[in-house]
Amino acid sequence: MTTRPRVTVIGTGYLGATHAVCMAELGFEVLGLDVVPEKVEALSSGRVPFFEPGLPELLVKNLETGRLRFTTSFEEAGAFGDVHFLCVGTPQKSGEYAADMTYVDAAFSALVPHAKAGSLLVGKSTVPAGTAERLAEMVAAARGDELALAWNPEFLREGFAVEDTLTPDRLVFGVQPGAAGERAEEQLRAAYAPVLASGTPVVVTDFATAQLVKVAANAFLATKISFINAMAEVCEATGGDVTLLSKALSYDTRIGGRFLHAGLGFGGGCLPKDIRAFMARAGELGVDQALSFLKEVDAINLRRRARMIDLARELVGGNFGGMRVAVLGAAFKPNSDDIRDSPALDVAAAIQRQGAAVALYDPQAMDNARVKHPELGYRDSALEAAKHADIVLHLTEWAEFRSMDPAVLGEVVADKRIVDGRNALDPAAWRAAGWTYRALGRP
Ligand SMILES: NC(=O)c1ccc[n+]([C@@H]2O[C@H](COP(=O)([O-])OP(=O)(O)OC[C@H]3O[C@@H](n4cnc5c(N)ncnc54)[C@H](O)[C@@H]3O)[C@@H](O)[C@H]2O)c1
Repeated sequence: MTTRPRVTVIGTGYLGATHAVCMAELGFEVLGLDVVPEKVEALSSGRVPFFEPGLPELLVKNLETGRLRFTTSFEEAGAFGDVHFLCVGTPQKSGEYAADMTYVDAAFSALVPHAKAGSLLVGKSTVPAGTAERLAEMVAAARGDELALAWNPEFLREGFAVEDTLTPDRLVFGVQPGAAGERAEEQLRAAYAPVLASGTPVVVTDFATAQLVKVAANAFLATKISFINAMAEVCEATGGDVTLLSKALSYDTRIGGRFLHAGLGFGGGCLPKDIRAFMARAGELGVDQALSFLKEVDAINLRRRARMIDLARELVGGNFGGMRVAVLGAAFKPNSDDIRDSPALDVAAAIQRQGAAVALYDPQAMDNARVKHPELGYRDSALEAAKHADIVLHLTEWAEFRSMDPAVLGEVVADKRIVDGRNALDPAAWRAAGWTYRALGRP
């Protein structure tokens, strides 16, 4: 084992492409692998197939150094890598809460026969507890003690993925007990040497804990968001203002203000499916009661979408039939083009189904949205989307929406009505410009 291991990254989606580029940026020789040839071609020619600030520049820079390449060949990846990071998707199974492990199983099965003796396989995908143990058995059955396995969950946030990968809050190394685990930890420390050198804390755990850290973190974050959204429901019933409530709570350092922002709730490719898979796994383990609160966390989250639709319908007179609705935002959060389980897109599609004509604009997620919802109308700017609108819905808090001039928008709409699904606009400014401003959780 050299001090600078050669790295492969298997699965180059949001997580894997970022990981591959950042490992090259940290000085490693990296080979990224994906089963979709178009992704490999795009990345090889310097094009990131999704929106992630800062990533395209680093991709081009590191392709030019020759340290970074991409392939579709497991044979090539196996021969190249000392440390293999497996980053394939674990989406929700259709019609079930559980995670679909098909891609993880396929990636391991394809790599294991080709991996060099002495190399380390590192799982980074978010998986149900028990997966690493099962895969370790599979690896041992195929290759004896030639290969080692570690679990190293990933905590990056889309929109900040580069920064989070180069300077993570912490690293978690899940390894087996004994000599094999010690060797795996050593190999992981070598693969993360530049990150560790900058003082990043490491928590070394067993397999079960490493897999649980990730889903526990997401369960906590989802719970915090749904907590404040439950308070928003109560504010709506009492006339309270959830934005002031959360501001007042946030000064308590035991509570803190992050993830305490009431609005349309969470979505994306992680939180919703991760809490559902966590509940499904807890059920299999016979500890479903321990996580039954997550059912309510999920339900509160989905009720916000329903509340948003009801509020908008009420404002246009009780019926969406024939109404023009401008929707600002399609991505599940700003600084991303990810529309997986996006609250904004979910609301837009539901309103269109109820008879409205939706005109949607998002700074980055239009192409993805068009593929999933071709029935919606798409416009090139917020102003275009708002033209002749009976109501404007602010559903993803992009900076460009927060800085919109209510007077300018007011000149193009049919009616000055706006619902701020993200509690991110200044109600006083919109009302002063003659708008009926409504938001979730406040009068
Ligand atoms: N996106 C995030 O912010 C994030 C953050 C932390 C953890 N995660 C976790 O990381 C994993 C990947 O998430 P993602 O958002 O990057 O998903 P993604 O769908 O964007 O990427 C998965 C990639 O794996 C490829 N793939 C599928 N099967 C393969 C195989 N057999 N061999 C090689 N490649 C294969 C796909 O073509 C795709 O490019 C998930 O478990 C997710 O929960 C994601």
